[in-house]
This record gives sequence, C-alpha cells and structure tokens, in this order.
Amino acid sequence: MKSIATKFFATGAVFALGGMVWGIQMSATHDHTLSPAHGHLNLIGFVAMSVFGAYYALTPRAAAARLALVHYLLTVMTVLILTPGIALAIIGETEVLAKLGSVLAVLSMALFTYVVLRNGVGAAEAGAGCAHAQPAE
Ligand code: HEM
Repeated sequence: MKSIATKFFATGAVFALGGMVWGIQMSATHDHTLSPAHGHLNLIGFVAMSVFGAYYALTPRAAAARLALVHYLLTVMTVLILTPGIALAIIGETEVLAKLGSVLAVLSMALFTYVVLRNGVGAAEAGAGCAHAQPAE
C-alpha cells in the first residue's frame, strides 16, 4: 500500500495535470471566465496537497496515524467538490457545491493545524505534545 505522503503527492500531481490542461484550454479559447476554479484546483489540489504530503513524509508519527488518511480523503473531497462548485457559481447555476466545498476546505486545514500541533514537525519531534518533548532546534 502506498504511503500517505505518496498518496498526497500523486493525487496532487494528477490534479495539477488537470489544472494545466484546463489552463491551456482557457488560454487557447481566450475565455478566462472559470479561472478562479482553475486557480483553486491548482492551489488546493496541487500546492496544498503537496505541502501536506511533504509534512507527512517528514513526520512519521503523523503519517502512521489513522487521521492522516482522514485528512487525505477530506482534502481530495474538498478539491472534487469545490472546483466544480466555483465553476457552477460563476456561471450562475448554484452556489451549494461552492459553499460545501468551502466548509470542507476549512475542515481540512483545521485538521492539518491539529495534526501539526499534536505531532510537531519531523521525526525528532515525535514526542511533541507529551511531557518529555524535546525542544525544537
Ligand atoms: C499549463 C499551465 C497553466 C496554464 C496554461 C494556466 C493558465 C491560466 C489562465 C489563462 C488564467 C486566467 C488569467 C486571467 O484571466 O487573468 C489563469 C489563472 C490562474 N492560474 Fe493558471 N495556468 C496554469 C497553471 C497554473 C498553476 C500550476 C497554478 C497554481 C499552482 C495556477 C494558478 C492560477 C491562479 C491562482 C489563477 C488566477 C485565478 C483567478 O483569477 O481567480 N495556474 N491560469
């Protein structure tokens, strides 16, 4: 089974490829109407996913916890709902998916905040949060 860091990076790369094809399509057609959706696909789907992946690669204790998989699934759901949600809101269809996707995005980042505070960053900080935690260098 792939590590959680690999899942984050690989899924992020797939989102980036989709976002880039979309960007080229926008450039070629000179229709930039949906650029905010393209921007969020790339920034949450690729940049944030890759930052999360790097964090889990650096921090084995966080990567080993079940919460890491919850975080991964939550972030993937965020991208899959928020991206079409923004596009649908722009074309005036519905704002429901954009609102739901926004809530998921906040939850994903709140969960990341908790995971970082709970585990620290890096193997050396694996004891962060317990009484014997080593101070960060
Ligand atoms: C093949 C690669 C890409 C192409 C051809 C492309 C193309 C475009 C185009 C045509 C726009 C609209 C610009 C405008 O209307 O002023 C745009 C906006 C944007 N792109 Fe890309 N893009 C690419 C990759 C990326 C990547 C990798 C990211 C982020 C990591 C990104 C983030 C953004 C953002 C944040 C916006 C502005 C969205 C907004 O105005 O709300 N793009 N892109």
